[in-house]
Amino acid sequence: MCGIVGYVGERAALPILLGSLQRIEYRGYDSCGILVQDNASGEVHLYKGLEPIASLIQNLDVSQFPGTIGIGHTRWATHGIPSKRNAHPHMDCKGEIAVVHNGIIENFQSLKDRFLSSCQFRSETDTEVIPHLIEKALMKAMKAHTHHKDFSPLSYSYSHSHSQSLTADEWLLKEAIRESLSYLAGSYAIIVAVKGFDGLIAARKESPLIIGLGDRENFIASDVPAVLEQTNRVIYLEEGDLAVVKKDRIYIENGAVEVTGRRGASMIPWTIEDAEKGGYEHFMLKEIHEEPKAIIDTLRGYLTEDGINLGIEIRSNIKILMVACGTSYYAALCGKYIIEHLAGIPVRVELASEFNYSDFVLGDDVTVIAITQSGETADTLTALKKAKRFGCRTVAITNVLGSSATRIADDTIYIRAGPEIGVAATKSFIAQLIILYLLGFYLAMKPEHEFEEWIEELKRMPQLAQMVLDDADAEIRQYARYLAGFEDVFFVGRGVNLPVAFEGALKLKEISYIHAEGYAAGELKHGPFALLTQDTPVVAILSGGSDGDSSIYEKTLGNIKEIKARGAPVIVITVKSDDEVEKYVDAVIHVPDTRDIFSPIPTTVALHLLAYWTARTRGCEIDKPRNLAKSVTVE
Ligand code: G6P
Repeated sequence: MCGIVGYVGERAALPILLGSLQRIEYRGYDSCGILVQDNASGEVHLYKGLEPIASLIQNLDVSQFPGTIGIGHTRWATHGIPSKRNAHPHMDCKGEIAVVHNGIIENFQSLKDRFLSSCQFRSETDTEVIPHLIEKALMKAMKAHTHHKDFSPLSYSYSHSHSQSLTADEWLLKEAIRESLSYLAGSYAIIVAVKGFDGLIAARKESPLIIGLGDRENFIASDVPAVLEQTNRVIYLEEGDLAVVKKDRIYIENGAVEVTGRRGASMIPWTIEDAEKGGYEHFMLKEIHEEPKAIIDTLRGYLTEDGINLGIEIRSNIKILMVACGTSYYAALCGKYIIEHLAGIPVRVELASEFNYSDFVLGDDVTVIAITQSGETADTLTALKKAKRFGCRTVAITNVLGSSATRIADDTIYIRAGPEIGVAATKSFIAQLIILYLLGFYLAMKPEHEFEEWIEELKRMPQLAQMVLDDADAEIRQYARYLAGFEDVFFVGRGVNLPVAFEGALKLKEISYIHAEGYAAGELKHGPFALLTQDTPVVAILSGGSDGDSSIYEKTLGNIKEIKARGAPVIVITVKSDDEVEKYVDAVIHVPDTRDIFSPIPTTVALHLLAYWTARTRGCEIDKPRNLAKSVTVE
């Protein structure tokens, strides 16, 4: 999974491309590359490297990279190690056709063997087959239409026009690219630059791609933050779209049919400040501090004076299966507790990657809910497609407008967390929980007044999250400094807070590189006890404090005492009104009292802060943890 960008206009392309790439570096950051085309001189300037985009911004100069057309790429390796050789753009044999690509070409080896054995390959990537295929297709097309023996995009001209929207040259090029794409199995979003051509060609299949609209200039990118500094008018390309993008004209087709008029522009409500760090040291900290706002924005619109309106119809007598990956999977697990508690409807939860290749059997009476903040996680998209094959109704819960999940699912509920740049999901998890509460109330199908008090409590969640940020941050920092000295940490919880313990452990391990495991509080005694020593601190979430089931509180407290008896230090997260537990443990983080079912909200805010400050104490690359990426578009 990678980030790709393109620019065509009248300004110098280099700084625009680098600025855009920097904003989507979270999509992959093991290497990068940029190509700028100067059609005035006929020259093409290429740079590839392993350094972060920030150092390219410092070191590359417009005088060395003149030109008003260009493409760029920031990579997350799938085929071939991160290296200059494997960095994009990749080119044809003559160095005239350049391609940046996000996705995976599954049949690249057989394409190489069958059709491209005479080509000189310079990388180990799957992507490189694309420029070679285009070169071949273009040569074939030119032979068919002209008497040129040698292909040179700069030199050909062709008089007969095939479309009112495209010149003959553009048509020929577009046809060659379309033919090349027809050979590809797998997924792609690509941008193609051709020497001498005063535009770019973009196409997508199962990978996101947008066009940002400017004044006598246009931008292409994998993701909205890449173009936000330049424009907030965006066209979302759809599955199978191919676009010829010039500075003052855009042509889009799907299959062989022109669809330009059907691809309207959307106004993106996010400002550039939304997508920037806003004064925080890291995006992750900014995004944790945006958790109250994410709750407000997510509730807004769905929770109206007339009740809950999720914009979709779901029957209450349904069976629900939730599929997801990573943090979203833990949200789904919380959702199971929430919906079963509020609506009494059984909910099954599966990891998307397991669901996809196992012999699960679903009836068409099952509604499959895919939770995915990015809307692009390959495993989750495959799960959605599988669910559709079973004839199930599908619903996507996602943060990203126009993302692939929204195109596959029958219905979408947006979480409205705003752009999330830190690789570790934070505010999107909280916003997912909010949708799941709303869904729980909605499915309960009880008269609103029966839930009046509960809904009033849900409305307090932004306030409670804010209280954790304001009141608990100092003590959390203190415990984070303590945890930073260990290499193994357990997180335990019960009930709706068990998945929250999983989430706490995931966050800690991914950003601080401390080995962390989430466990059911009652399960430690069945094995992990053997690991408990004074060097294995345990973070315990004490559920049931306020209104919850007091037996959960008692049982968890019992487990905590057992842990203490085995010498492990214990930090407890519990509600403010709990003055019992501090007698037995080493440290207590207090969060505001609320109904037990809502306690994941304040508790998660505390755990996100704990992971953040621990990683910060250890000096980790918090926004871009090693080996990880924000949206994983490969299975
Ligand atoms: C990646 C991210 C995680 C995220 C997971 C699922 O692994 O690093 O933070 O939870 O993908 O992403 P999704 O977009 O489907 O929620």
